[in-house]
Amino acid sequence: MMKRLSILDLQRKKQEKEKIVALTAYDATFAALVDEASDIVLVGDSLGMVIQGKENTLSVSLEDMMYHTRAVDQKLKKAHLVTDMPFLSYQVSMEKAIESAGRLLQAGAQSVKLEGGEEVCDLVHRLTRLGMPVMGHLGLTPQSIHQLGGYRVQGKEERKKDELLKDAKRLEEAGAYAVVLESIPEDLANDITKNLRIPTIGIGAGRDCDGQILVIYDLLGMDVSFHPKFVKRYAHLSQTIEEALKNYAQEVKSGLFPDDSHVFH
Ligand code: KIV
Repeated sequence: MMKRLSILDLQRKKQEKEKIVALTAYDATFAALVDEASDIVLVGDSLGMVIQGKENTLSVSLEDMMYHTRAVDQKLKKAHLVTDMPFLSYQVSMEKAIESAGRLLQAGAQSVKLEGGEEVCDLVHRLTRLGMPVMGHLGLTPQSIHQLGGYRVQGKEERKKDELLKDAKRLEEAGAYAVVLESIPEDLANDITKNLRIPTIGIGAGRDCDGQILVIYDLLGMDVSFHPKFVKRYAHLSQTIEEALKNYAQEVKSGLFPDDSHVFH
């Protein structure tokens, strides 16, 4: 059996200046597909949007995250599996947060990701002291979408820049093994990356992060209506799927499918 990458393997990649490839996955079929290309697979609470069809991540439950983590865990051989702690699973109390993180690890995650800076540092410290590795998440933190006033680039003002850099340092000191930087200017992500020993994983954070992450459905072009600036589409699967389904429907209606090769005699 192949060994999954550990948090130490991921940190070594930063030391050796090897870029870290991260992707999301939410089910066993995609987990099997993304494993080879990825160093990190995130079961993201973005599943609120791409799986559950909601407008944001706020309604995703711990049980949802455990269910999808179990599915992804079945098929990953090499990539490190990290799962998002969903909204309200870590904000209410230290006890609840510890239990939530533990349940995600029991479901198969090797580490958990949570959003926030200074306000979550005590928790990050506690979890890591208890042996539960934590990835931080700064910048555009989707669980605070209403506080932020929408999905907008963060850290443009000097004061905010300074705050984000300090938060990143605090997370590192608290014991986070890596940090996601979402939707911040490239120069700020560069500054943070240079000032941290732990890897930064960017999404909409420019070229200088130690790694990059994208939502798998976005990079595969599964939704024509969603194309933010930071996403590069490496395929146009929505078109491919629609064409395939049109052909299938036509062949069923015309009697071309099934043909002799698809039937049992
Ligand atoms: O939920 C998610 O998929 C994420 C990534 C986009 C970083 O947090």
